[in-house]
Amino acid sequence: MIQLSSRLLAAASMVRGGGVLADIGTDHAYLPVFLMQKGIVHRVIASDVGEGPLNNARKTVAAYGLSDRIDLRLSDGLNRFFPEEVSEIVICGMGGNLIEEILSSAPWIMNDRMHLVLQPMTHTEDVRRFLCSHGFRIDRETVTEDTGRYYLSISAVWDDLQDPGCEGYYYFGTLLHQPGNAQKIVKKQLDRIRTRLNALKSANRNTDEQSVLSSVLAYYEKETSR
Ligand SMILES: C[S@@+](CC[C@H](N)C(=O)[O-])C[C@H]1O[C@@H](n2cnc3c(N)ncnc32)[C@H](O)[C@@H]1O
Repeated sequence: MIQLSSRLLAAASMVRGGGVLADIGTDHAYLPVFLMQKGIVHRVIASDVGEGPLNNARKTVAAYGLSDRIDLRLSDGLNRFFPEEVSEIVICGMGGNLIEEILSSAPWIMNDRMHLVLQPMTHTEDVRRFLCSHGFRIDRETVTEDTGRYYLSISAVWDDLQDPGCEGYYYFGTLLHQPGNAQKIVKKQLDRIRTRLNALKSANRNTDEQSVLSSVLAYYEKETSR
């Protein structure tokens, strides 16, 4: 049985199975192999934009005797996927802005069979902003520690939700009211926002961005003073 890092295990535990799964940016294909070995999924397309990572995936899949059960596909994001071909999409180990770009270039993902598992390494607000403004409902968020770093995993379903949320929510999601590891990410976001806001104020520029960031800090104060 393949051993997953606690970061990838956190994402794997959110996968529902049952349908066809796409692992976008799979690299070594550890996650698809694990899910297949556990019997959580029965069909996986492991995909990557690079030949090198896809070759890594090919080697792992062959080493575990799963070459006939895991499809490998060279694709920039979801560009080489057919609409409705998959019902579950995992994207881990990329920046939030790239994840947002990949999701927004595939409008067919907005259907009520779709479940997403996302693990943005940075700019988590871009991912939540995309989800909330495109009908997705975030149904679970967890934060996992892995070799001294903290990773956010997001599970979301498409619900045709008509609630765009607000910038404060995009920055903190459901983490403000979660104890433990979640607070590490909250603190990191706060530090990032305060540093950026101070820099903009000192340079006296981007007043629109300044007011967005100030509204995020006000949201944080309001939510945590309850
Ligand atoms: C840091 S690795 C993450 C591997 C694995 N998903 C994980 O979390 O351990 C990022 C992978 O995403 C791939 N990647 C980057 N941009 C991509 C894109 N637009 N479409 C598909 N894969 C992409 C890279 O080639 C690389 O293999």
